[in-house]
Amino acid sequence: MEKDELLEFIGKGRSAVVFKMKHTNKALKIFFPTCAQIAKEEADIYRVLEGNVYFPRLYEAGDNYLVMDYIQGVTLFDCLAQGIELNELVIQQVDKALLSAKRLGLNPSDIHLKNIILLPEGKIKIIDVARFRQTKDCRQWKDLKKAFFKFYKKNFFPKKIPVFLLNFIAFLYKKVSFSLPVVYTLF
Ligand SMILES: Nc1ncnc2c1ncn2[C@@H]1O[C@H](COP(=O)(O)OP(=O)(O)O)[C@@H](O)[C@H]1O
Ligand SMILES: [Mg+2]
Repeated sequence: MEKDELLEFIGKGRSAVVFKMKHTNKALKIFFPTCAQIAKEEADIYRVLEGNVYFPRLYEAGDNYLVMDYIQGVTLFDCLAQGIELNELVIQQVDKALLSAKRLGLNPSDIHLKNIILLPEGKIKIIDVARFRQTKDCRQWKDLKKAFFKFYKKNFFPKKIPVFLLNFIAFLYKKVSFSLPVVYTLF
């Protein structure tokens, strides 16, 4: 079989490209050459999280790759883009997942909409745990939660948001130190 028949592209982030290994329930995450060292850090963190239902299981790790459970579902980012409605149960599960990681001595970071996957039965899984050992406090999830209750849950708020707008908000939030708390005080 050809290589491209065995791998199906599923996603790309800042540090890696991810493929589904066809005919299996596994995903292969291959890190860009400049980010290869993250493979080991992320593998170590997955080992700490082993058995935790909110995270994929790790099967194998190499110098620049990981093999883990393929999570069949839709990232929260794509839920917003496609108009798949999110409810409070999703938020509660993410809170539980992060708490369980903290209890294992980790410091969950980089929790954003593209790193949370909603499964068809309503459960969630968190991927991309490489930054779970960073020391600085990450407030992304706190801000997202506030935005959920302050805006998203309101009837007037659109449940389907164009991708360019989602990316623009993420850009402002990250690059321009856009502070959501300032926006909240305006409403
Ligand atoms: N185990 C997985 N199962 C299903 N999709 C995944 C899995 N891991 C990653 N993805 C998809 O690939 C994208 C990039 O993966 P991610 O681990 O977040 O890379 P990066 O570390 O570069 O941000 C994710 O946003 C998601 O859409
Ligand atoms: Mg990611």
